[in-house]
Amino acid sequence: MSKYIINGPCRSFGGKVNISGSKNAALPVMAAALLSEDESVLYNVPRLSDTAAMAKIIESLGCGIYRDGKGAVHISASVRRPKKSLDYYLFSRLRASILIMAPCLARFGRTRIPMPGGCKIGARPIDLHLKGFAAMGAKIKQGHGFVEAAAKNGLKGAKIYLDFPSVGATENIMTAACLADGVTTVENAAGEPEIEDLAEFLNGMGAKIEGAGSDTLVITGVPRLHGGSHRIMSDRIEAGTFLTCAAGLGAQLRAENLEVGCLKPLLAKLTEMGLEFETGRDYIELKPCARPAAVDIKTLPYPGFPTDLQAQTMALLTTCDGNGMVVETLFENRFSHIPELCRMGAEIKTEGNAAFIEGVKRLTGAEVKATDLRAGAALVAAALKADGMSVIHDIEHIERGYENFPEKLRSLGGDITAVD
Ligand code: UD1
Repeated sequence: MSKYIINGPCRSFGGKVNISGSKNAALPVMAAALLSEDESVLYNVPRLSDTAAMAKIIESLGCGIYRDGKGAVHISASVRRPKKSLDYYLFSRLRASILIMAPCLARFGRTRIPMPGGCKIGARPIDLHLKGFAAMGAKIKQGHGFVEAAAKNGLKGAKIYLDFPSVGATENIMTAACLADGVTTVENAAGEPEIEDLAEFLNGMGAKIEGAGSDTLVITGVPRLHGGSHRIMSDRIEAGTFLTCAAGLGAQLRAENLEVGCLKPLLAKLTEMGLEFETGRDYIELKPCARPAAVDIKTLPYPGFPTDLQAQTMALLTTCDGNGMVVETLFENRFSHIPELCRMGAEIKTEGNAAFIEGVKRLTGAEVKATDLRAGAALVAAALKADGMSVIHDIEHIERGYENFPEKLRSLGGDITAVD
C-alpha cells in the first residue's frame, strides 16, 4: 500500500490549477460507447485508476480501447457478442461497472456481470437499475455474485418512476432506452451535470433524449446508433476539493477549465462562510481570506450540496470560526474520515447521520488512513494545513479519482510526496 507524506502547514499555497476531466462523467460515457459497433472517440478522459479499470472491463468484453498519442481515448465495440467470462475482481473494484449492463442488454439482448463494488460508503443496492430494466421487458436474475438481465426480443419503451433520483440508475436506464422499441419516460430522474454530459454524448451518436438535467427524461428509441465524438466535462468534485483546500489555508486559488455553474452549491456555502470569488466563463478564483465562519451543510441530490464534497468541506469546517453541522443524507456510511480527522486534533461528534464540528485554531499532523476516495481527499486537505508531518496511508483510494494529485498540489506549493 502506498502513502502520502505531507508537511504542513503550507503557508505559501496558491496559484492556478487546471481541472481534469470528470471521473463520474467519463465512466458512464465510456460504458455507453459500447452501444454502437462503430468507433467512438473521447477527449479529456482523466488518467485515473477507475478509468483504467473501466478500460480493462471494456477489453475483457472483447472490445477495443486505446489512448492515442494526443490523449484521446478510442473505443470500438465491433464484437458480435461480448465475452461471457468476466473477472470478479475488475467489476468489484468500481461501482460504475454496473453501467456496462445497459449497452450490453440494449444491443445484444442479454448481460451477466459480477456484482459491482466501489467505495464502501453504504449498502449501495442496485434495485432501481434492475426495476428500470424490468419495466422495459428484461428478465432479471441474481445469484452466485452475478446479476443478469435478458430481453430476447429487445427492450420496449416504458414509463418509469424512480423511487429515488439515483445517478447510476438514471444513467443505466437512459442508456438502455436509446435502443429500446418506443418511448421511455423516466420521472424523478437524477439531474446531475454528469447525466447531461452523458445525454450529450448519446445524442451525438444519434440517440433521441430530451430533458437531461431535469427530473423527467423522454427517450425515443432508435434502431441503431453510430459512433460518437465527445469531450468529457470537467470534474466539479476535483475543482471543489482544490477550492476547499485553499479556503482552509486562507489562500488565493484559481481553478481553471471548469463548468462554473456546476459548482454553485459549493460556492453558495463558501460565500456563506465569508469567502469571496471572481468567476469567469471557465474559471473560479478564490480570494485570499481570513479564517472562514462555520456553516451547516446537508447533502442532497443535485442541485443540492454534493455528497462527494461532504468530507472535504468537513475538513475545512474543522478549523473554521464557530460550530458547524454536516448532515449526510445520501449514503449511510460516509463519515469514515471523522475518526481520522480527530486524530489530527479536530473536534467532531456524531449522532446518526449528523456530525457536529467545533472549529479549532489548528490541526496537528498525524498518521491517518484513507478509507475511501473523498475521505482520503479530506485528509489531504487537513494535512496541508496541520502543524507538522502527516502520513496518509492507503492512497490507492485517492488515486481512483484525482489525476496527478500530488503533482498538482506541489505546483500550488504543497509539500507532498507519494511513497510506496
Ligand atoms: C454516483 C457517483 C458518486 C456519488 C453519487 C451521489 C459515479 C460513478 N458515482 O454514485 O460519486 O456519490 O452518485 O451523487 O457517478 N440507491 C438505491 N438503489 C439503487 C441505486 C441507488 O437505493 O438501485 C441509493 C444508494 O444506496 C444511495 C442513493 O441511492 O443511498 C444515491 O446513489 P446513486 O445516486 O445511485 O449513486 P451512484 O450512482 O452509485
